[in-house]
Amino acid sequence: MGVQVVETSLRDGHQSLMATRLKTDEIVPVAEILDKAGYYALEVWGGATFDACIRFLNEDPWERLDKIKAVCKNTKLQMLFRGQNILGYHHYADDIVEKFVEKSLEHGINVIRVFDALNDVRNLKSAVDAVNKYKSKYNAECQIAVSYTTSPVHTIDYFVELAKKIDKMGADSICIKDMAGVLLPDSAYELVKRLKEVTKLPIEMHSHCTGGIAEMMYRKAIEAGVDRIDTALSPLGGGTSQPCTESFAYSLENTKYDTGLNIDLLNKAADLLNKSKNKYVTDGTFNTKALNLNPNILKYQVPGGMLSNLMSQLKAQNAMDKFDDVLKEIPNVRKDLGYPPLVTPLSQMVGTQAVMNILFGERYKSCPKEIVEYLKGNYGQAPSKVNLDVQKKIIGDIEPITYRPADKIEPEFNKIKEKYKDICKTDEDVLTCAQFENVAVKFLTEKYNPTIKEDNEVIEFNMEIGK
Ligand code: CO
Repeated sequence: MGVQVVETSLRDGHQSLMATRLKTDEIVPVAEILDKAGYYALEVWGGATFDACIRFLNEDPWERLDKIKAVCKNTKLQMLFRGQNILGYHHYADDIVEKFVEKSLEHGINVIRVFDALNDVRNLKSAVDAVNKYKSKYNAECQIAVSYTTSPVHTIDYFVELAKKIDKMGADSICIKDMAGVLLPDSAYELVKRLKEVTKLPIEMHSHCTGGIAEMMYRKAIEAGVDRIDTALSPLGGGTSQPCTESFAYSLENTKYDTGLNIDLLNKAADLLNKSKNKYVTDGTFNTKALNLNPNILKYQVPGGMLSNLMSQLKAQNAMDKFDDVLKEIPNVRKDLGYPPLVTPLSQMVGTQAVMNILFGERYKSCPKEIVEYLKGNYGQAPSKVNLDVQKKIIGDIEPITYRPADKIEPEFNKIKEKYKDICKTDEDVLTCAQFENVAVKFLTEKYNPTIKEDNEVIEFNMEIGK
């Protein structure tokens, strides 16, 4: 059997390159073609796609999923799920996690990729248990992803031990999620070989081309026996996105790794996506800078998306001249915090802290409230020891918690349902509110009452002025 391919252009591809702005009308015709092209799965849903739908596109993400499912009869649909954070940025109660899993499967998701930014397996458990509970009913697969990063604690041995735990937790497959694109080809070879010794589960590779090494890393992973790779069609591949699908289909054709993909159909889908892309390049939504190679990420171990966030934060402060200082500060902040992997939400938190440390001229003089929560243990266990001086400066004598953060969160679903009973018509609406409260309320109010849209805008404008 050759290498299986998961197509990411309809989730990570447009998220990485054009701020997740593809519209449902642009996605569905592409998905319809790809459904027949021989993929293992199409990744179509996740935090940013959901968020952008209600925040910027005025589209209901649940309806988007239904429309994609209606044209995908042959190929599995995949989503990315941030463990206890679901699609949002903080921990939710277990009942919300379970309900979200159930509804996602009901709307047609077949593979749920669950990960935790800190690789704290306690934060995976409730999502994984939920997928397993509904697995047979919806023919679903539970994939657990490890957040790959490098640090003195994140060695190959560390990831092998983690994979052993994941195997026992009830995963059907394991993904190596190299969100920053820093996994080196030879390390990938060794990692995949070692994982294959300790687990029989299929192993999937996910990376980003930002540093210019993802294609060669994939090749080495394939030679080591990786089962699946994540790629994006050429219009939304490369740069800060995944390696290009067509290139892998061509380069592996007629080898023992043959992907079995129908290249004519890939080209047909790419033509369609190119039409959308060209429009977004013209209006600036697709920033072609995202296609530039940036081998410096290998030095700073910073994901591509984080680099562009930092640039916009610094531009807003008129402090672009501090960019290099901030880049150098990131590894220091990471060390102080016990080497968290730089993935959402930790990447934003570490990045913002580094910016503050530089702009205030004194380290940890000021902190985002998320960093305070992190040090209190409310995101889970740090991978390594945190700097106790820094901890004391920020949270004083407060003892960080050692239990699973969600253990102390009361069931929330019925409370949110009651609170928003005038706004929500379905359980899906309640879940949307649970995730993105203010944005969701505005979106749903306008969806169900299109005539009061104008008033809402006036109210919001006044609130902005008041701040
Ligand atoms: Co990614």
